[in-house]
Amino acid sequence: MNYSKCRVCKEPAIIDLPRHNANFCGEHFIQLCRRQVEKAIKDHRMLDPKDRILVAVSGGKDSLAVWDLLIELGYQADGLYIGLGIGDYSPTSEGYAQRFADQRGLKLITVDLRQDFGYDIPTASRATGRVPCSACGLSKRHLFDSVAMENGYEVVVTGHNLDDEAAVLFGNTLRWDIDYLARQLPVLPATPGFPKKVKPLVRLTERETAAWCVVRGIDYLLDECPMALGNRHLAHKNTLNEVERQSPGAKALFYLNFVEKMAPLLASHGQEMVDGLGTCDSCGRPTTGTTCAFCRVVATSSAHEPVPVELVLSKKARAAYLSDRQET
Ligand code: AMP
Ligand code: FES
Ligand code: ZN
Ligand code: ZN
Repeated sequence: MNYSKCRVCKEPAIIDLPRHNANFCGEHFIQLCRRQVEKAIKDHRMLDPKDRILVAVSGGKDSLAVWDLLIELGYQADGLYIGLGIGDYSPTSEGYAQRFADQRGLKLITVDLRQDFGYDIPTASRATGRVPCSACGLSKRHLFDSVAMENGYEVVVTGHNLDDEAAVLFGNTLRWDIDYLARQLPVLPATPGFPKKVKPLVRLTERETAAWCVVRGIDYLLDECPMALGNRHLAHKNTLNEVERQSPGAKALFYLNFVEKMAPLLASHGQEMVDGLGTCDSCGRPTTGTTCAFCRVVATSSAHEPVPVELVLSKKARAAYLSDRQET
């Protein structure tokens, strides 16, 4: 790659960043990422040095990058990996998370849906009639909260980046889904029974988090989840990438200006949604009904025969998954 010179030191650059209208060498790219994350943490009052932090790690670039960044910035952060039982993808992704933790002497808590709760995501999808990503999102959100609360962590960090947040915002805006828009913030404060939830990578794109990992020598799982192939979220990312190609910086403005200018107008709406929670009669966590959605998924899915991942993939996703397996 020949990207001419670093904006800061004039040494050969390793990456071009059109939205900053500049190129950077490895050292100054790392400095830029660190500053963007520090700015996100400061602007949104995400973290305090005293916080006990739990980083949700999937073994992909974003969550390993955010864990690495937080440790580098001096925070105390342990990891949480959730085994979702998605074919070969889950054990492979766990390997990346575990190796990262072992190499740095960090603590990684692991929860396995099949071993600990008697189901996996493909089975939950079939048993409950939910699309896989919905069963998966619901299971992960419940476990992030419950593991954090049971183990005394004040904050849960996820690796959502600018591309993720802009794509979700785009989808919610296309539908004017006010309930979701009201909650789409880089920080959700702690409420009774729930930890604070923060996204320190909202100012970095996925190209930047991938480059962070390469420069820092972090080995991460390149594959996307086979169940996510062809979903709307990926289509929105592609659409926004096309907009970004034509107007560098548009993606960041779309998301960051939403957070600054629009989200405050929706704040009272978000408040209404957390009022009036009861207690789940099965797990004791807060819920709007008598049994929480997670415990209902556990009950239905653990009673169902295990369903292999191939059976719940769309035609296109199945073809891609099977051809990947043949290649490896
Ligand atoms: P995703 O929902 O796959 O886009 O992932 C969003 C964020 O959720 C990631 O950046 C991680 O912080 C977290 N995450 C995803 N999968 C897992 C997993 N299996 N275990 C723990 N955290 C996860
Ligand atoms: Fe959740 Fe793929 S990681 S469905
Ligand atoms: Zn430089
Ligand atoms: Zn429950």
